[in-house]
Amino acid sequence: LQTLRPIQLAHKYFELFPEQKDPLWQNPCDDRRHRDIWSRDKTCGHLPKFLVIGPQKTGTTALYLFLLMHPSIISNLPNPKTFEEVQFFNGNNYHKGIDWYMNFFPTPSNITADILFEKSANYFHSEDAPKRAASLIPKAKIITILIDPSDRAYSWYQHQRSHEDSTALKFNFYEVIASNDGAPSELKGLQKKCLIPGWYAVHIERWLKYFPSSQLLIIDGQQLRSDPATVMDGVQKFLSVSPHYNYSDALTFDPQKGFWCQLLDGGKIKCLGKSKGRKYPPMDQESRTFLSNYYRDHNVELSKLLHRLGQPLPSWLRQELQKLR
Ligand code: A3P
Repeated sequence: LQTLRPIQLAHKYFELFPEQKDPLWQNPCDDRRHRDIWSRDKTCGHLPKFLVIGPQKTGTTALYLFLLMHPSIISNLPNPKTFEEVQFFNGNNYHKGIDWYMNFFPTPSNITADILFEKSANYFHSEDAPKRAASLIPKAKIITILIDPSDRAYSWYQHQRSHEDSTALKFNFYEVIASNDGAPSELKGLQKKCLIPGWYAVHIERWLKYFPSSQLLIIDGQQLRSDPATVMDGVQKFLSVSPHYNYSDALTFDPQKGFWCQLLDGGKIKCLGKSKGRKYPPMDQESRTFLSNYYRDHNVELSKLLHRLGQPLPSWLRQELQKLR
């Protein structure tokens, strides 16, 4: 019996099975054969029990802050390089492997009660994230937040401008959303990134291909903004987390910020930074009408999806549907 040397053998293997070049990580503890060869120093406790998947600009940071206030809910550690989201399931970080991912999670002090989670707002519209997440953490709960996709697109555009994205600074909002096929590629690229996350039904259906609807919570972002305590009650119920934390006492509306913030001991108030709840002029009517038309079919599909799931329609969606009558 003859065999190639390991590296050559690996090359040969992937020549024969090129589709397997792209890994799909599974939880090593779910399979006895894997568990048996898994190092003794390792644990499968360093994986999240739920994910906040986005999309961006819907209030994901506010939800993240509120979740951290709960004594039993623990987030990943910040990325030491970027201090930003881990972004494991959506992009190339996935190829760094599960050890890389698990290193982001602390060892819970109370392994049965503590709930680890991760928030990466780009998971929502990722083609890969649902399949990859379902493979590694099939029991995980998934939380998404929806606001009117037109407002989301506008907030995202303002976010790019304040990060001095040169294309967003060069073109006004209408030029970005309404650019046609002949437009410069930088503009088309920005348009796609701005508009595609708002195809809510398409993306949610992709998550539902891999996760049962009982594991998915859809939050109305408008309600998160106006009445976070009620939303957080629903979140706690969905996560079956204990003890019950009273957000009505722990949050306060800050009139200066114009948003709900955390009430600290001694009466101090902690709000999100300047980059959340930005001040910018309202969207112009031409853009509003364009986006209302652009998202019409997507919103109809979303309403059917929410109906199927037995979920109430957020008020912005009801208003958009009324425009069709
Ligand atoms: P704007 O800055 O456009 O107003 P994300 O964290 O997903 O990027 O979302 C940012 C948005 O969260 C903000 O968009 C803001 O409207 C919304 N938001 C909801 N509740 C908030 C809160 N309590 N504090 C600050 N922003 C909040």
